[in-house]
Amino acid sequence: MTTFSLNLVLFFSFPFISCKHFLADAEVSNKIGINYGQLGSNLPPPKVAIEMIKSMKAGRVKLYDANHEILSLLSGTKIQVSIMIPNNEISDIANNQTRADQWVLNNVVPFYPGTMIRFILVGNEVLSYDSYGDRLVWNDLVPAMRRVWRSLVAFNLQIIRVGTPVAMDVLETTFPPSRGMFRSDIRWTVVAPMLEFLDESRSSLFINAYPYFPWSANPMDINLDFALFNGNLEQIDRGSGLVYTNLLDEMLDSFIFAMAKLGYTNIRLVISETGWPTAGDIEQPGANLLNAATYNRNLVKRVMTKPTIGTPARPRVVVPTFIFSLFDENQKPGPGTERHWGLLRFDGSPNYQIDLTGKKPSVDYDPLPVVENNVPFRGRLWCVVARGVDPMELQAAITEVCGGGDGSCEALWPGRECYEPVSVYWHASYAFSSYWSKFRSQGASCHFNGLAQETTMDPSNGSCRFPSVTF
Ligand SMILES: *[C@@H]1O[C@H](CO)[C@@H](O)[C@H](O)[C@H]1NC(C)=O
Ligand SMILES: *[C@@H]1O[C@H](CO)[C@@H](O)[C@H](O)[C@H]1NC(C)=O
Repeated sequence: MTTFSLNLVLFFSFPFISCKHFLADAEVSNKIGINYGQLGSNLPPPKVAIEMIKSMKAGRVKLYDANHEILSLLSGTKIQVSIMIPNNEISDIANNQTRADQWVLNNVVPFYPGTMIRFILVGNEVLSYDSYGDRLVWNDLVPAMRRVWRSLVAFNLQIIRVGTPVAMDVLETTFPPSRGMFRSDIRWTVVAPMLEFLDESRSSLFINAYPYFPWSANPMDINLDFALFNGNLEQIDRGSGLVYTNLLDEMLDSFIFAMAKLGYTNIRLVISETGWPTAGDIEQPGANLLNAATYNRNLVKRVMTKPTIGTPARPRVVVPTFIFSLFDENQKPGPGTERHWGLLRFDGSPNYQIDLTGKKPSVDYDPLPVVENNVPFRGRLWCVVARGVDPMELQAAITEVCGGGDGSCEALWPGRECYEPVSVYWHASYAFSSYWSKFRSQGASCHFNGLAQETTMDPSNGSCRFPSVTF
């Protein structure tokens, strides 16, 4: 197909698309969805997971791939589904329409309409600088989105919208919201063409927005209740005159203002991820059951309130919201919070009660333990072998940690101060502490594939001093 004929198809499809879109929205309550990640070693099988999603009454589910077993299992349910193209397929698709068509043929056509696929997300946080981000893909992102949309139009599947989740770090200014501005390195090269595409195709800007992150980075400056939608705090944005009662609204509106500066005032928002962790490392403040339950319950209540509240800059406009996440995922790397975002634990039991319809009054929930970790931890931490670890796994870990030639393990050499007692537990604990203290500033976590945990107890013995991290 030529570009020219495709443009015609796109142009004439619009009125039809938007009409169908609104009809579909009216049929099912689809304001609240759940992210279903699968980076866990002992997660319940997909069949069970989907039963859980159904019984929780989530209107939508978002996958990080297009797992065919899960897509089949979702067939015949009323759950609207969001699927994802992995970051490493973006460039191929951007450069080749056949690849886009094949992706849609393999992952959408066999399941639609039995499975209510509604969004195809191209990559995840592609425009971020962290591990997901890949500058080489930046320029391929929008061309890939356009090709996938072309395929959908060709297959007459325009009810499915194409987007890509962005994290807060695509903004260089977020506060106050009226100063929201996209990063200068992507503003005109990637973001403006992306917004043009989203606007043309009546899609949405998908945002991964976690008030937990700005709050936990500045827990003494940002009021916890403001982050948790608690209480009656108000913050005025002097640039716009708008009044904010919670941090999430500020984050969302900073995107509204950033888009407006590029000339786009009608693109809707979807929160592709938000949530609060139930646990984390000792130095990570505020990651506890009470805060997580409070955040997600208040979030749901807000999103489900009728008439729709919206945000100060976009009152009364629905923002479909996907909570992160269905399960705690014990195989996610990084700091402790990464493995504790689930509404459910690894085994599928609830971390805390939550009613995703938003109807249950707060007083009907069982009380949760109050944990006093809402202020920054001050003191020293060591990183030692976690409880219950199989000693057989430790030798390989020692070899790996000590094999880097970075001097982390010199004190473990025969004759040196930490060689005795000669035990894998002792040597591994020393190696973990030493490596962590050396590389924490570069992002190392006290995790080591689940073999390590932090402690406030100094393991040092005799002349062997364990390196520590001071907070
Ligand atoms: C596009 O992709 C198809 C399917 O993978 C492949 O057969 C074809 O050679 C590709 N075209 C180009 C120009 O790379
Ligand atoms: C402390 O060091 C001594 C001498 O090396 C050793 O015998 C003892 O087992 C060590 N204690 C612990 C708790 O590792």
